[in-house]
Amino acid sequence: MSGETDPVIVMKQEVGKAAAAKVRSGSIVGLGTGSTTAYAIEYLGERLASGELKDIVGVPTSFQAEVLAKKYGIPLVTLDAIDRIDIAIDGADEVDPNKNLIKGGGAAHTREKVVDCLAEEFIVVVDGGKLVDKLGSTFLLPVEVIPMAVAPVTRAIEKLGGKPELRMGVKKAGPVVTDQGNLVIDVKFDNIDNPAELEKTLNNIPGVLENGLFVGVADVILVGEIKDGEPVIREIT
Ligand code: 5RP
Repeated sequence: MSGETDPVIVMKQEVGKAAAAKVRSGSIVGLGTGSTTAYAIEYLGERLASGELKDIVGVPTSFQAEVLAKKYGIPLVTLDAIDRIDIAIDGADEVDPNKNLIKGGGAAHTREKVVDCLAEEFIVVVDGGKLVDKLGSTFLLPVEVIPMAVAPVTRAIEKLGGKPELRMGVKKAGPVVTDQGNLVIDVKFDNIDNPAELEKTLNNIPGVLENGLFVGVADVILVGEIKDGEPVIREIT
């Protein structure tokens, strides 16, 4: 990896590297999405290139993950060609004390949930700022919606007490379009007291494809923190 000096980037690199170091030869690996996971994918590629790691294949959770895997020489498979995923590495936007997550900051949570839930071991890579006492306290909850259903889903979310806003593109006019061709509604809930119930309730609204609550899915959280100017990794199991 590069001679990066920005401590936040160094921390993301280190946490990504720590996750990638857990992957064993012969594994089928879920490749997550986001800036932290990108370093894990890069390091997996380095381990493959050096010969330290052999015979892994990746299952990408997004177009971004697919592009990075190709760049770093990780062979890819689709879910119809395999019967298991050994380990998945993915980021998160919030992590609560029960290892429940909000994901979807990169609008990839639908495919991420498919892959991460299938993995025998799901490792989450975050910086310390993502740890919260209660989900929803710092991050809006992403909900992927098929385009024709945006208006009724918006109304249904308001009835549940949420404040929805359609995610708009950056350096792109109009809304964000997901890898599946859908839209994302980001929702502010004042209190997510029961994430498991809210996850089901939202997914039960006709037109909702998937929401960013990941309840009871994560096995290990690798937290990158800066202590005395140096990156340190803490493992929550
Ligand atoms: C994408 C995600 C990402 O994993 C999440 O947004 C964290 O990304 P980053 O590591 O860049 O903070 O859920 O849908």
